Amino acid sequence: MGFTMKDDTIFVCTNCGAESLKWSGRCFVCGEWNTMQQVEVPRSPKGERQKIESEIKPEKLKDIKITKEQRISTEISEFDRVLGGGIVLGALILLGGEPGIGKSTLLLQIAASIAKSKNNMVLYVSGEESAKQLKMRADRLNIDSDNIYLLPETNIDSIIQFTSSPLPSFTPSLIIIDSIQTMYDENYPSTPGSLVQVRECAIKLKDLAKTSNIPIFIVGHVTKEGAVAGPKTLEHLVDVVLYLEGERFQDLRILHGVKNRFGAIEEVGVFQMQDRGLSEVKTPSRAFLEERMEMPGSAVTSILSGTRAFLVEIQTLISKTPYGYPKRIVSGFDFKRLDLLLAVLQKRIGLPLSMYDVYVNIVGGMKIEDRAADLALCASIFSIFNNKQIRPKTVLIGEVGLSGELRTVGQLNKRVKEAKALGFDNVIGPEVKTLDKALKLAIEE
Ligand code: TYD
Ligand code: MG
Repeated sequence: MGFTMKDDTIFVCTNCGAESLKWSGRCFVCGEWNTMQQVEVPRSPKGERQKIESEIKPEKLKDIKITKEQRISTEISEFDRVLGGGIVLGALILLGGEPGIGKSTLLLQIAASIAKSKNNMVLYVSGEESAKQLKMRADRLNIDSDNIYLLPETNIDSIIQFTSSPLPSFTPSLIIIDSIQTMYDENYPSTPGSLVQVRECAIKLKDLAKTSNIPIFIVGHVTKEGAVAGPKTLEHLVDVVLYLEGERFQDLRILHGVKNRFGAIEEVGVFQMQDRGLSEVKTPSRAFLEERMEMPGSAVTSILSGTRAFLVEIQTLISKTPYGYPKRIVSGFDFKRLDLLLAVLQKRIGLPLSMYDVYVNIVGGMKIEDRAADLALCASIFSIFNNKQIRPKTVLIGEVGLSGELRTVGQLNKRVKEAKALGFDNVIGPEVKTLDKALKLAIEE
């Protein structure tokens, strides 16, 4: 008795990638008409599945040995730091960021750094730019390596075939896929960049990384509109997620992790985009404060980021609300936290902020999650409200509680040390106890 293997049939929306067992004229997710297409999904043969099942065997927890992951250093310490000490072999790493922020530049620099060692070959797969364009970028970056190979290709199966049955002399130490939104799997009808394509291609790349032990970087564009098939949809699938951020027309770039199976995610790497690519910023505090003008509304705090403390500038502006409902426009600071601090300022300090629009900006594109910045945020609003500037060389550190009390923060010494190193010797911190007192101390009479 034999059985014939039959493929499963599903319907996939070519617009949004939604899957369904039934055909319909209109996609039930995105609402587009005539986009559901039939797709055959190969079913794995029964025999194979049974074999795999018989191989499944639990292991004793006690017997499991931990082998330390093998890592390769990129020799770019700001980058290694964010990865938790270099690239782990066999890892699938997503680098997300807005178009034009510098992802391709950064990865080409990483490629060059890895390729310096003569046994390391790097394969750069580009679906966005031609080999010529990449060469132009490499020239600009002064990269002239024997060990970097370019592959202009977007068919994921061809890429995998090429890399998994390599010529004896060609086994890359690193693969870069730029970008995931240009890759496609011909087994699916949807267009490159759609949810299904992005996901299926990433799954295949993950397999490749795990079976070959080659680390793979994938570039994912983030679009302002928050596209459906952006890097967010891949975060659960990859081992490491990094984002490169910054303000496009300023030159600071911040690399931070939002997920890392092999290390912590608190560390950030700071770079500067220059004529010849990204260079490491060794003293971020100085870079963040470089263009600061001491004006009402500007306050400096010391935040903790992984093992380092940085000084950053918080700027706020307020203006009378012309309508009934005040606006809050925030960049780099938690929106809800701002609301809470505004409520504390209104209730405990008596500032009538519900009548004002409030704008907050963290200079340099840094994103503050550290509550130690609460006090500086409150002080900058207090300063602009009174149109008085904060005393020179003042740094404000402290979490603000709902009763208007100042709370202690972690690693105060480290923060203060960084502030003093930059000449900020007027430290207003948690020992002042209340927000009210701290604000009075902060403002020039
Ligand atoms: P790119 O790496 O192409 O961005 P992404 O891959 O994230 O889309 O970077 C593009 C921008 O960086 C572009 O505006 C030019 C600028 N740039 C420099 O300022 N200096 C350089 O050395 C390079 C290569 C690019
Ligand atoms: Mg690019």
